[in-house]
Amino acid sequence: MKTLRVGLLGCGQVGSGFFSLLTAKKRFFETEIGVSFELAGVAVRSRKKKRPVRIPPSLFTEAESLVRDPSVDVVVELIGGTIEAKSLVLDALRQGKHVVTANKALLAEHGDEVFELAHQMNRAVCFEASVGGGIPVIKALREGLVGNQIDAIHSIINGTSNYILTAMSEKKIDFKQALSEAQAKGYAEADPTLDIEGIDAAHKLAVLARFAFGGRVHFPDIYCEGISRIRGEDIAFAEEFGYRIKLLAIAKLGADGLEARVQPALLPEKHILANVNRSFNAVMLHGDEVGDVLFYGRGAGARPTASAVISDLVDIAKQPGRFSATTAPMRAIRKNLVIKSISSIQSRYYLRFHVVDRPGVLAKIAQVLGGHKISISDVIQKERSAGSIVPLILLTHHAHEKNVRQAITRIDRLNGVRGKSQVLRIEGDA
Ligand code: NDP
Ligand code: HSE
Repeated sequence: MKTLRVGLLGCGQVGSGFFSLLTAKKRFFETEIGVSFELAGVAVRSRKKKRPVRIPPSLFTEAESLVRDPSVDVVVELIGGTIEAKSLVLDALRQGKHVVTANKALLAEHGDEVFELAHQMNRAVCFEASVGGGIPVIKALREGLVGNQIDAIHSIINGTSNYILTAMSEKKIDFKQALSEAQAKGYAEADPTLDIEGIDAAHKLAVLARFAFGGRVHFPDIYCEGISRIRGEDIAFAEEFGYRIKLLAIAKLGADGLEARVQPALLPEKHILANVNRSFNAVMLHGDEVGDVLFYGRGAGARPTASAVISDLVDIAKQPGRFSATTAPMRAIRKNLVIKSISSIQSRYYLRFHVVDRPGVLAKIAQVLGGHKISISDVIQKERSAGSIVPLILLTHHAHEKNVRQAITRIDRLNGVRGKSQVLRIEGDA
């Protein structure tokens, strides 16, 4: 039987789930999988903190000494963030340890350094849990889809945002309450801004795109919008038109570069991704041989994420020769992928204005849109109450992003238009 000594950094949401799984299924791993996992130590910030799992006090140790413990084979990094985590992961690799991490921020922002060092040290950096929680999408790319060139990713990869959007739609609760619920369920990052501003999804897209397309993706080049400016009225109006709002992470490889963006978008209600709800994630990949493939499952939470962490550990224990297969696509970089500017895309759009209900306002808006070659496909003005402020919603035919941005800047300055207009892209139309 193969024995693997594991050093655990972090015992929060995911770390507790991992500890629990490792403890509860110890015998199963030994008898069914042929691997004995031994926990060498657990490092946390505060040893006194109340946790959902009972860690024997003798296991607590300092993070720095754990990564240097000669008996440790693999360091499991579940502390998050990019400063201490980076230094600990690099130190662990220098000490000749393998690393398993759920830290997409670290890999998106410092992947070059981490994977380069892993290569030099001939050690694995495994990161299944970093994208899509419990969905084994990294393994699928590495193994099941190895005969394909991937050219497109359409995904919902932030559980917190998806939970919030679903709760706002189904339970009609407001954004703040929905976020609190997602935090209570353990889905959100320590800093939830990362979730609601799309940054966590952009981190995951950087990791996924780099792995799927075999090129270096510079995280800051990924266009990123979050859901914090989505109002209940946007969700309701979108539904009236037959759409649902989802935070999408999209990457498409073309001859002129990579389109890589994270943004809330309207999807037709029958679209498969429109029906991914709550903390569930889905990743749709397009391969040149296989066509579309969809991966669906829980994208956040202690147990699903722990499931992904364990799968990496089993891979390391069972197939040491696979290290290069795990890390190679992350470093055998064919080229820097040029990420196209967001202003070069074309899309249909949902536009929501707050206007004074008086004659001529719609005509002025339509004139500005027409002047920017933007053609209107649908209009709703719900309430009618002369002189008061009412929402006006327009859907457009395909238009250039650049033109839409210029038009909106002009419309927001029109007399009769109040506040900042809402602009959302419409994806997935036939
Ligand atoms: P938590 O904030 O719940 O847990 C972080 C843990 O790290 C805590 O136990 C904390 O200690 C410990 N810690 C922080 N800094 C240090 C340090 N310098 N030395 C030792 N221990 C430290 O985070 P999560 O479990 O939610 O997330 C962990 C990682 O997993 C992140 O990278 C996150 O992005 C990723 N992830 C999270 C998912 C989720 O659903 N939550 C899903 C997929 C990935 P203490 O408990 O004492 O405060
Ligand atoms: N905060 C992340 C999310 C955790 O909500 O998706 C999973 O990576």
